[in-house]
Amino acid sequence: MKYNLREMTVEDINDVIEGEIKAFGTTLGYDLIYTDLTFNPYAHYMVLEIDKLVHGYIGLWINDNSEIINFYVDEEYRGLGFGEMMLDFAIKLCELSKVYNLSLEVRESNAVARNLYKKHGFVFSHKRERYYDNGEDALVLIKSFGDVK
Ligand SMILES: CC(C)(COP(=O)(O)OP(=O)(O)OC[C@H]1O[C@@H](n2cnc3c(N)ncnc32)[C@H](O)[C@@H]1OP(=O)(O)O)[C@@H](O)C(=O)NCCC(=O)NCCS
Repeated sequence: MKYNLREMTVEDINDVIEGEIKAFGTTLGYDLIYTDLTFNPYAHYMVLEIDKLVHGYIGLWINDNSEIINFYVDEEYRGLGFGEMMLDFAIKLCELSKVYNLSLEVRESNAVARNLYKKHGFVFSHKRERYYDNGEDALVLIKSFGDVK
């Protein structure tokens, strides 16, 4: 198995949409991702390529207060360390960019992702009530990088 993490391009959008729908039952949508890739200087999207096919991605906006926009690994490749590899990369990018903190939203029921984020120093900040379509709350988690400026 050959894998790498590389910058996402417009040509990857349809693969990523397919993967998002499999992972979440929903997608950020072509237009949002296209606009981010093309016009948003704060957006950084990386795809996980395994044997030359896209099997995951992580998107983030890097600013003083950065955010993970979306993140998944295809089900057949989970539990192999790829999620951790992508999250580590995102955290490194934030460190290099000297951001103050990195936040994200996660479903309260998503124990796997919550474990991963906890392992990487994210802590609970607050809840967004009934944030998801099914009425589930989102937990906002934050990793602080301290006063790095
Ligand atoms: C969350 C996700 C990206 C993790 O990716 P992954 O490649 O499976 O994760 P890894 O193999 O790198 O595992 C890293 C850590 O995640 C947690 N984890 C992974 N699989 C787990 C499981 N089955 N049960 C509990 N924790 C688990 C553990 O903390 C693990 O660290 P450890 O191996 O030291 O215990 C993946 O499960 C996924 O795509 N889920 C669906 C989409 C999603 O929930 N995205 C996040 C939205 S906020």
